[in-house]
Amino acid sequence: MSDKQTMLFEKSKKFVPGGVHSPVRSFKGLHTTPRFIEKGKGAKIWDVDGLDYIDFCMSFGPLILGHGDDKVKEALNQQLEKGWTFGACEAYSLELAEFLIERLPHMEQIRFVNSGTEAVMTAVRLARGVSGKRKIIKFDGCYHGHLDALLIKAGSGLAGTAEASSNGVPASIAEDTLILELGDLEGCRKAFERFPNDVALIAVEPLPANNGLLPQSIEFLKGLRKLADEFGAFLLFDEVISGFRIGFGGMAERTGIVPDMVCYGKIIGGGLPVGAVAAKKEVMEKLAPLGDVYQAGTLSANPLAMVGGLETLKRLTPDAYVVLEKQTKSIVALFKQWFEEFEGGRFKDLDIVQEGSLFWIHPGVAPKKASEIPEDLGPKFKDLFEVLLNKGIYLAPNAYEVSFVSLAHDEAILEELKKRLWG
Ligand SMILES: Cc1ncc(COP(=O)(O)O)c(C=O)c1O
Repeated sequence: MSDKQTMLFEKSKKFVPGGVHSPVRSFKGLHTTPRFIEKGKGAKIWDVDGLDYIDFCMSFGPLILGHGDDKVKEALNQQLEKGWTFGACEAYSLELAEFLIERLPHMEQIRFVNSGTEAVMTAVRLARGVSGKRKIIKFDGCYHGHLDALLIKAGSGLAGTAEASSNGVPASIAEDTLILELGDLEGCRKAFERFPNDVALIAVEPLPANNGLLPQSIEFLKGLRKLADEFGAFLLFDEVISGFRIGFGGMAERTGIVPDMVCYGKIIGGGLPVGAVAAKKEVMEKLAPLGDVYQAGTLSANPLAMVGGLETLKRLTPDAYVVLEKQTKSIVALFKQWFEEFEGGRFKDLDIVQEGSLFWIHPGVAPKKASEIPEDLGPKFKDLFEVLLNKGIYLAPNAYEVSFVSLAHDEAILEELKKRLWG
């Protein structure tokens, strides 16, 4: 940690709470303070001291092409010449909307917002507004952004009871969110039976990837679809991470399950701030100005972000996903081998779960739900993170975050990773 970075972090803490604009960047619980990043290119980032790192955080997911992709940059530069916000109708967002709807057969209309949180917030309001019901079912271990209705954790009493997981979320809001364990279809049915006319929405990450990587069975996801149909609730797939990552059509495409609403974020803007909610036309048209569910945004569908998103998404061909998966498997294999070999097996109790171009490092057996995540995850990760950082390998600075592989993690990066791990 150089004096320059220490000085920057101290100064940041003076002007910004905790020195960061999003808590997971703070390196809380780690031995070291955050690196200040100056630039990125391909699979690498450089800090303000000029040290480079192979990046597996990739801005927490949006950069599926890698940092500073030349074609995206060119498109953004062209857009900059024309202007970057009009607050009026423009054809840039239309092009992206058409491109997406043509490729996402389960959806008929889309509205662009500025973040994943905003997308989920809109979906929740839409579900409540259309159904006239209040309650939301969510699963422990799924993250849906920092909106009040979903910043909720399991309560200590009955299955399904909930408490706010942040100060500032009123108990009156928490009580309308029912929390269940991932995989617990029986519990989900009981929650519906307790409140047969009150549940507006089941919100689920179909591939939970924000609190570890906890792949679910197709039976569970199909069971949610059935319960939503039986009790007249909407089924929301939060594909903010899995969308365009686990194949173009995300988990809806992979499983063939048709959700009523899908939320996107991250890759959809190619690294610029975009989120989106999509559904069938009859649902989407309940949003203002046609319907009476209000939603708006000064910078929504910002032309620069639309162009960045479209240029990124155009490159995500079926072949691109084959390459991503292959490279990820090779990277995971290298890490696993290194866990065994490094300092006589210092990390040999670590393992990796992988889905597409996501992977997550965990001790012991791969958990399937949040309550199975081992309690010693934090300390184990702390050691690993620091060793890797010193070798020029940058993981997301939190034990629960997954790692992201991009198309820029090519053969040359694999070779370099090998050298850095064993070097
Ligand atoms: C599954 C999921 N939903 C929603 C969000 C919130 O998105 P944002 O951070 O863009 O508000 C995230 C963020 O990581 C996420 O992983």
